[in-house]
Amino acid sequence: MESAVSDAHVQVTENGPYVVTGGVPLTRQTIVADEHGDSRSWRESGGYDAGAEYRLCRCGQSADKPFCDGSHERVGFEGTETASRAPYLQQAGEQDGPELVLTDAQKLCAFARFCDVDGSIWAQVEQPGTAERVEREAGQCVGGRLVAWKTDGGTAKDLEPELAPSIGVVEDPAQGVSGGYRVWGGIRVTAADGHAYELRNRVALCRCGASRNKPLCDGSHAAVGFRDGHVDS
Ligand code: FES
Repeated sequence: MESAVSDAHVQVTENGPYVVTGGVPLTRQTIVADEHGDSRSWRESGGYDAGAEYRLCRCGQSADKPFCDGSHERVGFEGTETASRAPYLQQAGEQDGPELVLTDAQKLCAFARFCDVDGSIWAQVEQPGTAERVEREAGQCVGGRLVAWKTDGGTAKDLEPELAPSIGVVEDPAQGVSGGYRVWGGIRVTAADGHAYELRNRVALCRCGASRNKPLCDGSHAAVGFRDGHVDS
């Protein structure tokens, strides 16, 4: 599940921001939906001149989003990390189709909804002729809940997209909300207590402060109507 090793790093701080080091590019990433509201693709909708090291708000209260402005102290942000520390494959169930295998760790859902286009990905994987679509939809899953696998000669190989290290500030205009941070490309994430989370190609981190699975995004931004002022940009 690991991607290329890089200096890119996200340090979760106790009841405070994410400290990002390694010169990780920071852009705004909008979920593009069709006329039915189904998620179809990602669109880069802006960039930030963030520098080599920056601090990203995770309490949702900064007046300078996505950057931390110290508001977490004023509001008494409680950012205790409760996400499982088990490796992805220990958390995931497996579904075998005629062409691909799909693994699914439900707790990692960040509500980007690429899996519900033209019939759910779980129905598609059972059908022949859907491998390309299943691979594409799984690869767009923001937090890496879904991973498609191909079995070749008895060995399963993940079909992870090749992603350069980057952080995306997610906007979801179809839902009228701002999402979490799209942390893609094998960026190390370290907990406030020093625990190194499993290195993964795709991770979604909470930025609204409301996730019940911190530091990961669990889609709570939709429930609380989190908006950063750029939803429709
Ligand atoms: S974490 Fe510092 S203002 Fe939100």
